[in-house]
Amino acid sequence: MSSIEYSGLFVVLEGIDGSGKTTISKMLVDRLNGLGFKAEYTFEPTDSEIVEVVRGKYSEYRDAYVDALTFALDRLLHLKRKVIPLLRAGFIVVSDRYMYSSVAYQAASGAPIEWVLLVNKYALKPDVTIYLDVDPETGLRRKQFKTTRFPEFEVIDFARRVREVYLELVKRGLMISINAARPIEEVYRDVEAVVLNALSKVLTP
Ligand SMILES: Nc1ncnc2c1ncn2[C@@H]1O[C@H](COP(=O)(O)OP(=O)(O)O)[C@@H](O)[C@H]1O
Ligand SMILES: [Mg+2]
Repeated sequence: MSSIEYSGLFVVLEGIDGSGKTTISKMLVDRLNGLGFKAEYTFEPTDSEIVEVVRGKYSEYRDAYVDALTFALDRLLHLKRKVIPLLRAGFIVVSDRYMYSSVAYQAASGAPIEWVLLVNKYALKPDVTIYLDVDPETGLRRKQFKTTRFPEFEVIDFARRVREVYLELVKRGLMISINAARPIEEVYRDVEAVVLNALSKVLTP
């Protein structure tokens, strides 16, 4: 599955909470459909029972490794059930989070980066991965995390570790970083430019 034939484009948006992934992904899908492309929004973790069972019945056994394997299984099923059929039908699939979320979050929770990458090695590589970069304070403020039951400093501290892993993945050339601390229209314009550039090489409306 890591390399298959398809005529669509697999686009992924990554970033910490509040970076704008959901907003920008949906804007992108609407705009691409408006331009005459076939585009569809999807997200991870999916609403499959896999993740719910682990979060429920097995919650006391959760750790970074259990979570990485759970999300990896959810991901492979999502690819087979939805993403790959759409790509084969010529769709631009815009995924709100994908395997680099696993790498960032499970590595921030204590699993080695290389191991999380290995666990996800069989999963289809995206054509374009965009990382929306914001500092944790900005992201959490947008999400109004003040209502969380966790002390705010802990949440910020975790988001900071997640961001560090994301920045390492950018350094490795796995994602294109876009400054998402700017007004949404500016962020969107840069995201769209990256996607249209990738599209110009493979698809026409
Ligand atoms: N660039 C931006 N500037 C200001 N607010 C933003 C920006 N991007 C997103 N937001 C707002 O921040 C909140 C979180 O955005 P969202 O897209 O849900 O982030 P994510 O999916 O990455 O957690 C939403 O209310 C959204 O309207
Ligand atoms: Mg979101």
